[in-house]
Amino acid sequence: MYKIAVIPGDGIGPEVTSEALKVLKAAAEIYGFNYELKHYDFGGDRYLATGEILPDSVLTELAQFDAIYLGAIGHDKVPQGVLERGILLKVRFGLDQYINLRPIKLYPGVWTPLKDKGPEHIDFIVVRENTEGLYIGIGGNMKKGTPDEVAIQEMICTRKGVERCVRYAYDLTGKRNKNNKLTLVSKANVLTYGHELWYRTFNEVGEEYKNITKDYAYVDACCMWMVKNPEWFDVIVTDNMFGDIITDLGAMIQGGMGIAASGNINPNGVSMFEPIHGSAPKYKGLNVINPLAAIGAAQMMLNHLGETKASGRIEQAIICALNCGKIKDLSARSGMGTDEIGDLVAGFVKKPQA
Ligand code: IPM
Ligand code: MN
Repeated sequence: MYKIAVIPGDGIGPEVTSEALKVLKAAAEIYGFNYELKHYDFGGDRYLATGEILPDSVLTELAQFDAIYLGAIGHDKVPQGVLERGILLKVRFGLDQYINLRPIKLYPGVWTPLKDKGPEHIDFIVVRENTEGLYIGIGGNMKKGTPDEVAIQEMICTRKGVERCVRYAYDLTGKRNKNNKLTLVSKANVLTYGHELWYRTFNEVGEEYKNITKDYAYVDACCMWMVKNPEWFDVIVTDNMFGDIITDLGAMIQGGMGIAASGNINPNGVSMFEPIHGSAPKYKGLNVINPLAAIGAAQMMLNHLGETKASGRIEQAIICALNCGKIKDLSARSGMGTDEIGDLVAGFVKKPQA
């Protein structure tokens, strides 16, 4: 019996979450695994009504689940940063989910803005460090609001934090066994302390992984290659900030935010799965957003829980849905309702195409 915490969140979060849960249910019926859901209504509306963001006691409670599923966080009436820091980053940091796993995979039949590139060219995974770097929120102001204002935002890289991330990436590259190539994306030529630590750690740990080809790209060049030669990448490992940026680019080349999913992984603890897209408040309640990214996140969750067959079947169902000719577009103009796309995928889970 898997215990799964569900935080549907804001905007379109609840709508896409229900579709992901619909598909989860279909997979459970076929594969016979059991789960129990507990919903939490944290997000912008609760904050505006009660002032509560995510209490520490709830974080302790979340640590008891087998996995956490998150829809989307972000509310147009809440100042930027409050919910992002107070919910999303609080869970990532608090539960030590030190890996943010972001597959960049172009499924057959999906449009990519890259000319002459297809599924055989766009299939790599970004391993983003998820608990350090520029995200830690250490810093301060001096003389705020005056012409002499100073703002400091610290970037923290620790040997432990970098090493565990790099190791995870090497292991994943080996397990994936595609090109057995791991690319370190950094800016070690400028960030001569923080990223020098990344570079050294990558090479030192790499001594233990003789069969993995090591590759290096500065983050600016990486953006260029992701567009020009995405087939060069197998697994990328990078820090928190750069991982954030290059995975939005990655989402675009795999067909857009409508398809990109992610997992915040603590290999020894509780992990949280979410679509990469935000809460898109202007589409809230309109039943127009396609839930495939959210369904993809549920698929990653099952894979993580060890339900690899169910996970594989959901992925096949997503591919069938994308290729059955009904979904015109992955944007809000798909021509189908959020629930209809959920039904379509759940249908393919229950009855796969020959
Ligand atoms: C993401 C998001 C978050 C991040 C924001 C909402 C804090 O952009 O998951 O990529 O920067 O990590
Ligand atoms: Mn982001």
